[in-house]
Amino acid sequence: MSDKAKQLAAGAAVDLVEDGMRLGIGTGSTAEYFIQLLGQRVRDGLSVSGVATSERSAELCRQLGIGLTNLDETPVLDLAVDGADEFDGALNLIKGGGGALLREKIVAGAAKRFVVIADTSKQVAVLGAFPLPVEIIPMAKQPLSGRLERLGAVVTLRQAEDGKPFRTDENHWVLDCAFGPSMAGPADLAQTLSTWPGVVEHGLFCGMTEQVLLGDDSHVAVITG
Ligand code: A5P
Repeated sequence: MSDKAKQLAAGAAVDLVEDGMRLGIGTGSTAEYFIQLLGQRVRDGLSVSGVATSERSAELCRQLGIGLTNLDETPVLDLAVDGADEFDGALNLIKGGGGALLREKIVAGAAKRFVVIADTSKQVAVLGAFPLPVEIIPMAKQPLSGRLERLGAVVTLRQAEDGKPFRTDENHWVLDCAFGPSMAGPADLAQTLSTWPGVVEHGLFCGMTEQVLLGDDSHVAVITG
């Protein structure tokens, strides 16, 4: 999908931002367009503060002069904007392709409104073609891999470029779980995963999204659940 689609979706999200807002700021290539466009508005005089969902996004915000805060200072956010790897008709999401799912879910959960920006390649009838990221405590890798496989997933420990296990910003590991069409209902699966010892967080975001701003090459559609 073209960058134009991501850019248009990001622009529609920036249009939702008002002076004085406390923002949740997402991670990934679509969120980076949002940060770039937000930076332009800040240069034009907009005053906002944001909680970034990753070190990468925080660094970009700093470069662009977007004021950063944290959830200790600012526990309630007006609006969080983030990308997604997949979304379905009920606006359930798979997130975490960039490894930031834990902070992304915390920030989305702290926001009064959670808006997703995406291009049309992210829209699916049934979640699961994109491997579900599950953030784990390293010592739980084997038991959790076994449990996930028994649910029908093909499980891969995510690797960094140096071949070592990828570490999240919170220093955990990620299991990428390819469920394909065998994924159970997302809400049930989310519930199950949350009860397993060693799972820190998973990339299923169910019942959190207010709307998806869906870009294609020429316009943006607003999708509500
Ligand atoms: C980051 O961990 C993810 O949840 C991203 O939001 C997601 O992977 C979408 O990224 P892109 O906008 O780069 O597709």
